[in-house]
Amino acid sequence: MNLTLKIWRQKDANDKGKIVDYPMSDVSPDMSFLEMLDVLNQELIDKNEEPIAFDHDCREGICGMCSMYVNGRAHGPDSMVTVCQLHMRSFNDGDTIFIEPWRATAFPVIKDLIVDRSAFDRIQHAGGFISVNTSGNTQDANAIPIEKHNADMAFDAATCIGCGACVASCKNSSAMLFVSAKVSQFALLPQGQVEATDRVLNMVKQMDEEGFGNCTNTGACEVECPKGISLENIARMNREYLAASFKG
Ligand code: SF4
Ligand code: FES
Repeated sequence: MNLTLKIWRQKDANDKGKIVDYPMSDVSPDMSFLEMLDVLNQELIDKNEEPIAFDHDCREGICGMCSMYVNGRAHGPDSMVTVCQLHMRSFNDGDTIFIEPWRATAFPVIKDLIVDRSAFDRIQHAGGFISVNTSGNTQDANAIPIEKHNADMAFDAATCIGCGACVASCKNSSAMLFVSAKVSQFALLPQGQVEATDRVLNMVKQMDEEGFGNCTNTGACEVECPKGISLENIARMNREYLAASFKG
């Protein structure tokens, strides 16, 4: 396949940035999207040009690092996949492909396609944990009966990989789907009840302080989430927040 890549280049956070064209030839449809970028970077290095900076780690859809827009969509044209799981067979010979970093005030660009998603880490630090007595008296988790339906929903919420596609696809840059997944995975389990009140209040407070926008129930986040995190989690977080506000 022969392609024209239009890639966002930006030296650092202060640089204005611009789209640069990169023609590519002989791209195999069996390559992953990131492998295709690896080939391009090798070509740039061979020409003594600066390679394109992009985040990646696991390359199997579990770390959430490979975040970028491909042709204006978070993680590209396929549903329920991250960019590392996207393959060139999803494109056609002769295509022009736009590749850009996430656009959100709370995710400033560091370089080229890499954005700073540490706002998510700070939200996690504000409440994304449980306290467990590890002094030798720890109760075996399997000894605590949990209703199957709740266990399944908690597991589904826990599959959020923190990629930020929900923020990137939201017209308000809201982080509600991410935060609600992190609240829900504990709210549905007995182990999460001890800090439940503080957790939801503190995580939502941190989310607001980081500069994410408000949720207006558009639902783009759910559509573009590579892990299928449901909007039901936002409804659950809102109930948790209301209950915690009365207690707090
Ligand atoms: S909710 Fe989905 S889109 Fe948002 S960070 Fe988690 S996995 Fe990514
Ligand atoms: S590189 Fe880990 S999810 Fe894509």
